[in-house]
Amino acid sequence: MVGDPLAAVYPVNDFGPAMRGMVIGGVGIVHVFLAQFAIGGGFLLTYFQWLAMRGVPDARRFLDGYFKLLVLVSFVLGAMTGVAMWFTTIQVGARTIGLMVDEFHWLWATEWCCFAVEIVAGYTFYRYGPRLDDRSRLALLVLYSLAAFLSLFWINGILSWQLTPGAWLDGHDVWAGFFNPSFWPSLGYRTTVACTLAALVAAALINTVDLPRPARAALLHHASRLLLPMVVMPVFGLWYLAVMPADSRAWLMGGSVAMTLFLAMAAGASTLLGVYAVIGVVWRRSYVSGATAVLLLALAFAATAAGEMVREGARKPFTVRQVLYSSSIAPGEVARLRQVGSVTDDPYPLRDRARYPTEQLALGALVVRAQCSACHTMRGANALVHLTGGWGEDQMRMNIAQLQRTKAFMPPFAGPPREVEAVIQLLRWEQADAPPAWPTSADPAVLARIAGWLDEAGTAPASEARARSGHEPTARSGGAR
Ligand code: HEC
Repeated sequence: MVGDPLAAVYPVNDFGPAMRGMVIGGVGIVHVFLAQFAIGGGFLLTYFQWLAMRGVPDARRFLDGYFKLLVLVSFVLGAMTGVAMWFTTIQVGARTIGLMVDEFHWLWATEWCCFAVEIVAGYTFYRYGPRLDDRSRLALLVLYSLAAFLSLFWINGILSWQLTPGAWLDGHDVWAGFFNPSFWPSLGYRTTVACTLAALVAAALINTVDLPRPARAALLHHASRLLLPMVVMPVFGLWYLAVMPADSRAWLMGGSVAMTLFLAMAAGASTLLGVYAVIGVVWRRSYVSGATAVLLLALAFAATAAGEMVREGARKPFTVRQVLYSSSIAPGEVARLRQVGSVTDDPYPLRDRARYPTEQLALGALVVRAQCSACHTMRGANALVHLTGGWGEDQMRMNIAQLQRTKAFMPPFAGPPREVEAVIQLLRWEQADAPPAWPTSADPAVLARIAGWLDEAGTAPASEARARSGHEPTARSGGAR
């Protein structure tokens, strides 16, 4: 059901100091920002065309000026970063993206068609707009906006399914997966963000138009109408929080410091922006200078970035809730991998095999690549060497054997005791600065202790173990930290 077996997934690239999850987050943030602006930009262009047809002075001039160009740039760059997303996801989470394509290919094809219409309509307007009559211009812009919005509509269903697959879980009904519990709040939220971005870019740009100040203020007033939807943003945000799984919500509300900070950043930046926009710009009609508009845009970018981090982070330890862990292992496979080993069938050699003096250390490196590298690096971001720096050897063994208890947003360890021990020896070897010789550890008593810890933690993720026993999350932190 979950695509190919683990062994068929090509080992991912190594992205240096960033962990794999961070790479996709980084590209995603830029892509989302540009793509959402391209959508809001369409709304704004349509609105200004309509204003121009009703005789509002300078509306057409603004429309045919830089703004059109900006929308073009953003949808071209948006398209390019969209392709970059595909390139990174197939390296970072081949199995996840494979599953998404398997389940939603027709919807994805539909999304692609909408996107194609968006590109053609946008480009036609850019190329021929100045020569067309008003009605055709309006028609083209409505088509562009509709297509852009629909491409958001389709992709939103597929992405929100990852966090809340909902009723799709029983029976794999495509529409149940698409209209999943977070579909509407997330669509609403993203649409309001799209409008906000367009209004802010317009505000920055209006300042550069060569017009007397009252004329600019009038344009600004029109553009700021697109800030109004921000009023309902908190509703969508809270709705989204309400439908997400309880454990994800718990990470965001204090369970994980990083996630809580990201949420606070997203909420704080949007609130500041919203209060200023609605009270200052819309209600009191204060003039937004170019510098202020750029500053507000930076705030909006921070909010978008933090929001995407929240969305990606809240799914942990899954890439698709209850179906696939971030490590590309399915929950149902863990018990078997505990028997046979997680890398026994891994046909792909290590790129830096020559670095490791013993077989055990090389095994450790394979296990880390398979089970940990989506979220950790050895020495860069979320570095395993540093996280375990203060731990004793047995403490390491227990905490890694009981990974889902150590931090509930990690998946259970999916290998036999010898793989745990290989990881421990690798970490200790790295902590000792990779000396040329290292003893192999094969004490049966040690392996038996590890087996006991593995059995005690079981093979279920922390969320399920808790649901069954009715306890609070065991986000036990290992000793020294
Ligand atoms: C789904 C993502 C994910 C995966 C997969 C994952 N981890 Fe983690 N791990 C995290 C996060 C997030 C933290 C929290 C880091 C922090 O507190 O700064 C963490 C923390 C840790 C810590 C420190 C725990 C503490 O209490 O201080 C260790 C040790 C660790 N991970 C080891 C591993 C090992 C070994 C693997 C692979 C067998 C692994 N992790 C797989 C996400 C993951």
